[in-house]
Amino acid sequence: MRKLLGVNIDHVATVRQARGTVYPSVIEAGLAVEKVGADSVTVHLREDRRHIQDSDVLQLKQQLKIPLNLELAANPEMVAFACQVRPAYCCIVPEKRQELTTEGGLDVLANRHTLAPHIAALSQAGIVVSLFIDPELAQIDGAESLGVKVIELHTGDYAEAESLEERQAQLNRITTATSIAASKGMQVNAGHGLNYANTFDIAAIPEITELNIGHAIIARAIFVGLEQAVQDMLDILQKAS
Ligand code: PXP
Repeated sequence: MRKLLGVNIDHVATVRQARGTVYPSVIEAGLAVEKVGADSVTVHLREDRRHIQDSDVLQLKQQLKIPLNLELAANPEMVAFACQVRPAYCCIVPEKRQELTTEGGLDVLANRHTLAPHIAALSQAGIVVSLFIDPELAQIDGAESLGVKVIELHTGDYAEAESLEERQAQLNRITTATSIAASKGMQVNAGHGLNYANTFDIAAIPEITELNIGHAIIARAIFVGLEQAVQDMLDILQKAS
């Protein structure tokens, strides 16, 4: 069976916010992604609202038939908003104001006392919570001890590897972490920095359930259109299965 594909459409909003226009529509993008056969739509509501806005999240929740995955930082304002909107999934990510994009996984161990009440509140609202973590045993153990059933492994170090040896080492790291988490009964997703050249090897890891991919798909959409860009990624996942 092919891996599930979650398409992150943040950068449709990036283009819109660059000019303060109403286009391109994030909702239209979500519906196009759904039409081609993606399995979920992901958006990251950042504290600085640099791309996705609160109204985007509300409208996507209302209009999509496929699940909405909301990425958010572990802070009370975001968690309260998520509990009100009730997306199918919330992925808790670390967030630094000045970063270009999420730079690494959560430090679950150092932040367990902050994370625990947020995980409890989201779960009570009926939302499936995942934690975005680096592919490290200690972080997997930390997620398990918080009762989390879904993790998303950060693939950024793999995507940014500068040599074939480094790439292979990072792939091994993700493969090992996936096996360990899966053996604990966790659902393992992965994402960050995945593109048309590096996704196949990650998609070929047997126990991974879903890949979340954004920037590369939206970038390709400029040339081939969003539906084709999603279809091309689905084809890679199909070939890897
Ligand atoms: N997964 C998580 C948790 C992320 O924060 C991001 C980036 O917002 C992605 C996946 C998608 O990364 P990319 O845009 O590099 O495909």
